[in-house]
Amino acid sequence: MSPADERDRRPRRLQTYETEAITVTFDPTRCIHAAECIRTAPEVFDSRRARWIKPELGSAELIETAVRRCPTGALAYRLPDGTSETADDRPSVRAWRNGPLYVRGDVRVETEDGRPIAAGFRMALCRCGATRNAPFCDGSHREVGFRDP
Ligand code: SF4
Ligand code: FES
Repeated sequence: MSPADERDRRPRRLQTYETEAITVTFDPTRCIHAAECIRTAPEVFDSRRARWIKPELGSAELIETAVRRCPTGALAYRLPDGTSETADDRPSVRAWRNGPLYVRGDVRVETEDGRPIAAGFRMALCRCGATRNAPFCDGSHREVGFRDP
């Protein structure tokens, strides 16, 4: 079961997992993906556990890599010296088959009249129109059977 499948059973607020080497945060409202984090660092990210993120079980370098592979921005990290992720040098937008747009870079989402809605380095933006967490994908494309044109 992926963290996304688990999300309705967890409190939907930011979760923080901390060691002396790294602090990982997880935003359950943004997690929709089938487990890039688990594939990269299965000992650290294991959705079968009650405390599903255990940063003490991996190096800070491995956890940074796993977090940066999270396509939705649900995961983030910071190091004890206060440094954290920087944006990819080359921004990118990728349409996931029958799913969201994965956007990477120094991303800002604004309304038509320039009001800021969201900002971050990694986002999954809804492409099907059915999300209940706009502008982010919340996995509803599966329920509504969204298909690429
Ligand atoms: S990589 Fe990100 S979106 Fe995918 S399961 Fe892990 S936390 Fe969720
Ligand atoms: S693309 Fe996932 S909810 Fe719309």
